[in-house]
Amino acid sequence: MGKVLIVYATRSEETTGIANLIAEGVRIAGHEADVKKSVEIRDEEDLKGYDGYMFGSATYHGEMITGMKQLLFIAERADLEGKPGGAFGAYGWSGEAAGRIFDTMEHIYNMKMVSSGPLMLKASWVQGGLQAAQQYGKDLAAML
Ligand SMILES: Cc1cc2nc3c(=O)[nH]c(=O)nc-3n(C[C@H](O)[C@H](O)[C@H](O)COP(=O)(O)O)c2cc1C
Repeated sequence: MGKVLIVYATRSEETTGIANLIAEGVRIAGHEADVKKSVEIRDEEDLKGYDGYMFGSATYHGEMITGMKQLLFIAERADLEGKPGGAFGAYGWSGEAAGRIFDTMEHIYNMKMVSSGPLMLKASWVQGGLQAAQQYGKDLAAML
């Protein structure tokens, strides 16, 4: 059984719902998932011991939330090369955050990323969000 860490930043909790559904998808696929807010990760040791990673943030003013920017600097020191990864986030109209996180995981950490790209949802409960978020978790689980 593999273990996935899902870390996210949110302001009004839409991204929390997406993170929890991704975790459900990982568990349905028979693996373990831990869900944490970005502020809970203090240093690279907190990122160790997992087989796959999902990082997420909502988009505000065209950017990810500051807590996720800090997490990405911590993750740079965590030796994630070759590990399966995905990125996600709630958005309103442009949704830059998920793509920026995804690109950082792929190009800076050299992780093996989910082939469908970043998961962007307006909320976990619209646009087939529930199924899409669970499927995203299953897709990562299949790479473990
Ligand atoms: C002040 C403000 C600025 C925002 N800026 C953007 C933006 O630049 N692009 C975008 O796609 N959504 C933007 N949004 C919409 C949020 O991303 C959206 O409400 C999202 O569901 C919030 O996720 P959260 O609940 O996880 O914080 C903005 C929302 C607010 C309140």
